[in-house]
Amino acid sequence: MTLEVGGNVDRSVDVVIIGMGYVGLPLAREASGAGLSVIGLDISPEVVDGLNQGRSHVDDLADSDIAEMLRRGFFTTSDAGKLRRARTIVICVPTPLSKDGAPDLDPLRRAVGSVAEHLQPGTLVILESTTYPGTTDEEIRPMLEAGGLVAGRDFCLAFSPERIDPGNQTFGPKNTPKVVGGYTSACGDAAEAFYSQFIDVVVRTKGTREAEMAKLLENTYRHINIALVNEMARFCHELDVDLWDVIAAASTKPFGFQAFRPGPGVGGHCIPIDPNYLSHRVRARLGYPFRFVELAEEINASMPRYVARRIQDQLNLDGRSLRGSLVLLLGVTYKPDIADTRESPAIPLAKILLQQGAAVRFHDPLVKQFSVSGVDIPRVDDVDLSLAEADICVLLQNHRQYDVDAMTAVSQRFLDTRGVAHRAANVQLL
Ligand SMILES: NC(=O)c1ccc[n+]([C@@H]2O[C@H](COP(=O)([O-])OP(=O)(O)OC[C@H]3O[C@@H](n4cnc5c(N)ncnc54)[C@H](O)[C@@H]3O)[C@@H](O)[C@H]2O)c1
Repeated sequence: MTLEVGGNVDRSVDVVIIGMGYVGLPLAREASGAGLSVIGLDISPEVVDGLNQGRSHVDDLADSDIAEMLRRGFFTTSDAGKLRRARTIVICVPTPLSKDGAPDLDPLRRAVGSVAEHLQPGTLVILESTTYPGTTDEEIRPMLEAGGLVAGRDFCLAFSPERIDPGNQTFGPKNTPKVVGGYTSACGDAAEAFYSQFIDVVVRTKGTREAEMAKLLENTYRHINIALVNEMARFCHELDVDLWDVIAAASTKPFGFQAFRPGPGVGGHCIPIDPNYLSHRVRARLGYPFRFVELAEEINASMPRYVARRIQDQLNLDGRSLRGSLVLLLGVTYKPDIADTRESPAIPLAKILLQQGAAVRFHDPLVKQFSVSGVDIPRVDDVDLSLAEADICVLLQNHRQYDVDAMTAVSQRFLDTRGVAHRAANVQLL
């Protein structure tokens, strides 16, 4: 089926991407680099101004990337009227959780409302934001069809989950296969043709629900396997077993095993959030729990408290109390080599330590300011001096810039939550 492109409307823009964040901006660069005309649409004046002035606020893009995009004609706007000119519209807005832990589709509904207001016949609309299965068909489609245009007949609709991995230097948008599910097979063809212009491999699913669920399976799989090793870390410590050595040994099996490593908890906008979209949907629709996810959530969310207890236990063994002790947190981002602290387990950990009266400092080569519940945690500039001063140093994130063995050499006590330090008398593993 070929869709008719609307009458006399100016349709000169290949793609308008809604939401210029960690997902939308790299996509814009890829599309722009392939020669497509790209407009970014964002409700944040800071984001709009920053990008138009050539400043990147996303780890994976340098200011020089934005300059190159601007040179190619890219710009960002908050004027939703630009949607009328788009041949394709891709939605990359946040899908957070509400205060009670339920999916919060408000930002998505707001973005889709703008699309619906300006939707032209022949437009391809793609949702990339992570969400529960059924969202594209049951939430988005009715909103888009409210003006009289019909999906699959007058415009195309598809879901294509974003798989961006911030900080990953091997896999970016171009060489990571892109999953695409169309509302109809023709919608899927249109979305496949769009992405094939700048992505090496496009993988089709049966429909939008399967594409939505594929993303949730990927993240739930990670969430559960991280919880598995996090739970093991606790009893391995008690059994005096070096779990990292165990994982290294198990990893030599050339089939049937994938290594996951313990840590101080999970962070970012995917692992702690996406599986909840699925478990909430299962519970709300079917009335029963998704037990694996709920258990993984419980274990991973309890890790910051476990790390705090391990800090307290170690200080106790050294004849000190947590209250009044100087605790230096090393690496407060949610993953290595990026500056993003969203949902970082360092936040609940610092909160618990502060509540217990510890003097908390942090060092992170990529983070200038770190606050917890409105309280600024002092940042140390001279990390070598601070390592020696602290009663205990806690490695939370193993940034490439860290020489962990050099750090442990000058520390009094060192708790390594990443299992990377050489085993020494003053080093404790998680
Ligand atoms: N960050 C990741 O690593 C990652 C990876 C895979 C999938 N995702 C998913 O992608 C989606 C986007 O995540 P992100 O990390 O890019 O978010 P982000 O917070 O980095 O960026 C979202 C942008 O959307 C803008 N925005 C919000 N509502 C808007 C609206 N109604 N109209 C226009 N702009 C609007 C915000 O101002 C912000 O600039 C989420 O569903 C997330 O779960 C994120």
